[in-house]
Amino acid sequence: MRHLLRDDDLSPAEQAELLALAARLKADPFGHKPLAGPRTVAMIFDKPTLRTQASFAAGIAELGGNPLHVNGDLAQIGVRESIEDVARVLGRQAAQIVWRTNDQARLDTMAQWAGVPVINALSDDFHPCQLLADLLTVTERKGHLAGLTAVFIGDGACNMGNSWLLAGATAGMHVVVSSPEGYQPAAGIVERAATIGQSTGGTARVEADLARAVAGADVVITDTWISMGKEAESSARLEALQPYALTGEVMAMAAPDAIAMHCLPAYRGKEITAELIDGPDSVVWDEAENRRHAQKAVMAWLQEQAGAAR
Ligand code: CP
Repeated sequence: MRHLLRDDDLSPAEQAELLALAARLKADPFGHKPLAGPRTVAMIFDKPTLRTQASFAAGIAELGGNPLHVNGDLAQIGVRESIEDVARVLGRQAAQIVWRTNDQARLDTMAQWAGVPVINALSDDFHPCQLLADLLTVTERKGHLAGLTAVFIGDGACNMGNSWLLAGATAGMHVVVSSPEGYQPAAGIVERAATIGQSTGGTARVEADLARAVAGADVVITDTWISMGKEAESSARLEALQPYALTGEVMAMAAPDAIAMHCLPAYRGKEITAELIDGPDSVVWDEAENRRHAQKAVMAWLQEQAGAAR
């Protein structure tokens, strides 16, 4: 049973296949109905969301399926009953399970017991659906991925930093994370990305010096400095990460045709300036739209992998 729990669950060939499928589904949004029946896809959100719940619900409907919102507050997964029991119950109702939760281990347990594909809709460690949408967006703007340099600036120890390292290296990109001490990705993630890059031509590294990191970059990415669950650290984070704000001055150090990315929600005047996110270098609204197309590709592909029996 295949799942999408982290970015390196996909081989380079599979990632390319999914991105090509996403582009086809975007061009013909109502012409593919692999969830016809309709098959139900259960969506559970233990953490706040706008884009993810909207894009999955719309995408499931476009694929001919039935989006089932399971209220995470009511289900209290792991409190009211075990993840194993929830997985076995939902696996009898749904063809796939989409889950946004905290610990990656919770997703691993759901995948082990559900008997149907499980999709990570953001965990503390990874955001693989966002990365497929982002890579689709970069492809639309640049025509290709391999060989491009993508620089993630700010809180590099967050799920988006981790996912850019793994997914970018899988795509053959040169991924640089520029963050201060204490906000850099775990060495194991950087090493994993570098290992992936050995077969794709991609590279992965941390560069604390922002100017050196961004020089000549094709893509510059940031994310909120206060990820979900980090609210108690707000003041310390704002002070430590302020020098790594994504501004017009930072973009001026990148390639002349560089694009600025942010998965949203954004906090103007903090991790990114209003002028930049609302300006011509920004592709954030394309990223938000492409969540639907990329996730449709994931669900269609997983349904095919699982077989159409359910
Ligand atoms: N980018 C993203 O995942 O948005 P939401 O948190 O609103 O779903």
